[in-house]
Amino acid sequence: MKLPPNARFSTICVHAGQEPDPSTGAIITPIFQTSTYVQEEVGRHKGYEYARTQNPTRAALEQNIAAIEGGRGAYAFASGMAAIGAIATMLEPGDHVVVTDNTYGGTFRLFDKVLTRYGLTFSYVDTSSLPLVEQAMRPETRMVFIETPTNPVMRLTDLAAVSALAHGHGMKVIVDNTFASPCLQRPIEFGADLVVHSTTKYLNGHSDSVGGIVVGVHDEDLAWLKFIQNAEGAILSPFDSWLVLRGTKTLALRMAQHNINGLALAEFLAGHPAVKRVLYPGLPQHPQHDLAKRQMRGFGGMLSFDAGSLESAHRVCNRVKLMSLAESLGGVETLICHPASMTHASVPPERRAAIGLTDSLVRISAGVEDAQDLIDDISQALG
Ligand SMILES: Cc1ncc(COP(=O)(O)O)c(C=O)c1O
Repeated sequence: MKLPPNARFSTICVHAGQEPDPSTGAIITPIFQTSTYVQEEVGRHKGYEYARTQNPTRAALEQNIAAIEGGRGAYAFASGMAAIGAIATMLEPGDHVVVTDNTYGGTFRLFDKVLTRYGLTFSYVDTSSLPLVEQAMRPETRMVFIETPTNPVMRLTDLAAVSALAHGHGMKVIVDNTFASPCLQRPIEFGADLVVHSTTKYLNGHSDSVGGIVVGVHDEDLAWLKFIQNAEGAILSPFDSWLVLRGTKTLALRMAQHNINGLALAEFLAGHPAVKRVLYPGLPQHPQHDLAKRQMRGFGGMLSFDAGSLESAHRVCNRVKLMSLAESLGGVETLICHPASMTHASVPPERRAAIGLTDSLVRISAGVEDAQDLIDDISQALG
């Protein structure tokens, strides 16, 4: 199989990094569940010595996702947080990072509670505002770490504008692309230096694996990530690599239905009298709808809405029947959650207030079920 150089997105998802197994012809990359590899003689082997360092299933996944994101290489880790932790090892004591204020709670916890102990500093700013990003930059700033759209208030950052600004100051741009998926947004096309994913979400897509990956474009970054993957050892297992590879093959198909269901739910909720506000970049009333149209190819399955009060938000979450009350996102089944008491409970209340994450907010990760069934469910839950 030879992937044409001009292959389009869904073809890349199915075929990149996927060669039939040379020993059997198996069309699917096997799960190489081994810890070591036999060497023919001292110093002569097939490129594989020890499975923390190299594993063919993991390598196939890394090639696949590097191609999907339009990068030059990728390294897979045991979780999204392990992948973000690996990126942080590029920093040195005294370095400073500008971070999207509404970043994932676990990322904030890693930066604020762990990495500040090693002489690193972080400024959390609304990266949707270019002047605020510029004001936060210091001589010792090395990275701008962006999430767009943010979870759960769905604020967007202009990736091309921030990349141009950061590069003008010699800084790297890192984008956590978990929420959008590369099907909807490819940050490297807008100038990002590194893209990170929790593969737990859309890339795997079936809520049955935890993992992370970093995609890069620069040789020195890729060399460091390869080194740190082996040095720290927080690798993605062969079985999880295989599961994510199975997931990426249907990424384009799944995202098409996530887009349909996200928009259908957003439009329904926007017209519902019990809902005060809907946050979804695909609605024309979203303040950054134009940027979303420029930067994204579809608006995805993630949306949030204001149920009016904490009590109403809890009531809706407790009353759904088809949707499941759970943390996480990006799977084929629709999940609902109350961010203030679930995914973002570790974010201090004053920071939640500053980013508009109110107690009345409910978040939905629309799956790939029939849109009308999801509307019927949320409709009965809203009463
Ligand atoms: C945007 C984002 N980044 C990173 C992570 C961390 O990923 P993981 O749970 O795989 O460690 C998550 C998890 O929810 C996330 O939503």
